[in-house]
Amino acid sequence: MITQPSTPSRPTKRVLVIQYSQSGQLAAVTERIIAPLRADPAIEVHVESLRPQPAYPFPWPFFRFLDAFPESVLLQPPALAPLQLAGDEDFDLVVLPYQVWFLAPSLPITAFLRHPVAARLLHGKPVVTVIACRNMWMLAQEKTKGLLAACGARLIDNVVLTDPGPTLATFITTPRWLWTGKKAGFWGLPAAGLNAAQISATRRFGLALRDALQRDAEQGSAPLLAGLGAVTADPRLYVSEKAGTRSFFVWGRLLRAAGAPGSRQRVPLLALYVVFLVVMIVTVVPTSLALQALLRPLLGAALSRIKHQFEMPSGSAKDRLSQYED
Ligand SMILES: Cc1cc2nc3c(=O)[nH]c(=O)nc-3n(C[C@H](O)[C@H](O)[C@H](O)COP(=O)(O)O)c2cc1C
Repeated sequence: MITQPSTPSRPTKRVLVIQYSQSGQLAAVTERIIAPLRADPAIEVHVESLRPQPAYPFPWPFFRFLDAFPESVLLQPPALAPLQLAGDEDFDLVVLPYQVWFLAPSLPITAFLRHPVAARLLHGKPVVTVIACRNMWMLAQEKTKGLLAACGARLIDNVVLTDPGPTLATFITTPRWLWTGKKAGFWGLPAAGLNAAQISATRRFGLALRDALQRDAEQGSAPLLAGLGAVTADPRLYVSEKAGTRSFFVWGRLLRAAGAPGSRQRVPLLALYVVFLVVMIVTVVPTSLALQALLRPLLGAALSRIKHQFEMPSGSAKDRLSQYED
């Protein structure tokens, strides 16, 4: 009898990927990142799609959009349709892509992170967060860190993709996209959302994760995506995010006291809130940006501390880029 020489095979690595996307933007980023993992026969990828109940519409009717605000900021999520996973499955790595809603993780993601199954799945596991949003994500990541810590997860990497248009232009182009579904640029303003090149280039993170899994690096505490330009934080937006978050809590509690999601009693308050929000956006954001530009010599050290803090753990360095660029 002839016996085949046994080829030493690597043990299979199991990767959990959480999925929720309305326009398909975050889904496209996720797909690009996980393609190299799927292509490796020694890696098994499980994609868990989140289905909030009731579903959020896209594009959003105006008041429905505003109505998602109190629960987003107060991290009070909707129910999810039953998950495919029971919680006793064992994963080596978790990829958690999320979008930001009102300076907080989107409600479907909050719903997952507060789900009893998530605590069991994520306990002690290394997690890579991937954010794709307009451009204000810093305090959302702080909230996500808190939710991950409550699950006992280990955050080892954070990738951030933000819309390339100028901040003030995106305050017009993003709501237009979310309320009408129209993404293309108009009247000299850039298109909303990420561009195709940004999405395509996220493949580098998938390649680096694949290589890291091959050498068991996910078991250590060092980031797997350092040197790949994973995050560039704009510390000048921090002041606006802080001011926004403070006022959001006050308005969020008021609106919650007025009624449950979708209730008629919320509508007058939401109308008042939207006036407040527009005034904030056209006053606080440009004023804080202008003041910071004026005071740059004095604020320099504080801003670079904030930048460094929010770029952790993966960082903005690009020294490994050439290894993973197509
Ligand atoms: C209700 C809502 C609130 C949002 N709030 C923010 C925000 O505070 N900061 C931000 O940068 N982007 C914000 N966005 C944009 C999203 O983060 C994201 O870029 C966009 O919704 C596309 O995600 P998708 O893949 O789910 O379609 C918001 C979007 C929605 C729908």
